[in-house]
Amino acid sequence: VDPRLQAISAAIRVVPHFPKQGIMFNDITTLLLRPKVFKDAVEFFLERYRDMGISAVAGIEARGFIFGPSIALAIGAKFIPLQKPKKLPGEVFSEAYELEYGKDRLEMHIGAVQPGDRVLIFDDLIATGGTLCAAMKLIEQAGAEVVECACLIGSPKFKGRYKLNGKPVYVLVECRQ
Ligand code: PRP
Ligand code: MG
Repeated sequence: VDPRLQAISAAIRVVPHFPKQGIMFNDITTLLLRPKVFKDAVEFFLERYRDMGISAVAGIEARGFIFGPSIALAIGAKFIPLQKPKKLPGEVFSEAYELEYGKDRLEMHIGAVQPGDRVLIFDDLIATGGTLCAAMKLIEQAGAEVVECACLIGSPKFKGRYKLNGKPVYVLVECRQ
């Protein structure tokens, strides 16, 4: 295994029983405190996406906002926030999705992406894939193309072996538990 990937994995703190009993929370804030490791993580995504003709990076609130803009700036793409309900002031596309406990919703400004846009969707972690699936639907509603979904951390709980709607999800490290 690449030692940089080992360092990335080791820099993620695992917090048992957060935010609920029985959940092993993978906390990326400890990785962000180590600039060299943080930079290496961003670099892995840049290596992959630099020459893929990506015109937009869509990041999912809240933790997809940390890496998404760094990637967008470096590859010369626009950044699009996909937000929780009632955060965006303009007209939105909206998609509901299931969480482990309850439901949530993601919204995107109408006009943020258009047909012809080639979009990378970014989030910190994939568990069930429900969040990324909703994000894909938002991009497709707008008529743009989802090139790939990418996450820092993949969870073995995810049942589709990192495929969503037939598209592979690019994951840097496996979640530690
Ligand atoms: C977490 C995580 C992903 C999502 C993954 O976000 O940051 O966005 O869950 O779960 P899934 O694959 O089962 O959908 P959360 O909803 O806790 O919100 P936050 O990022 O705003 O903290
Ligand atoms: Mg999230």
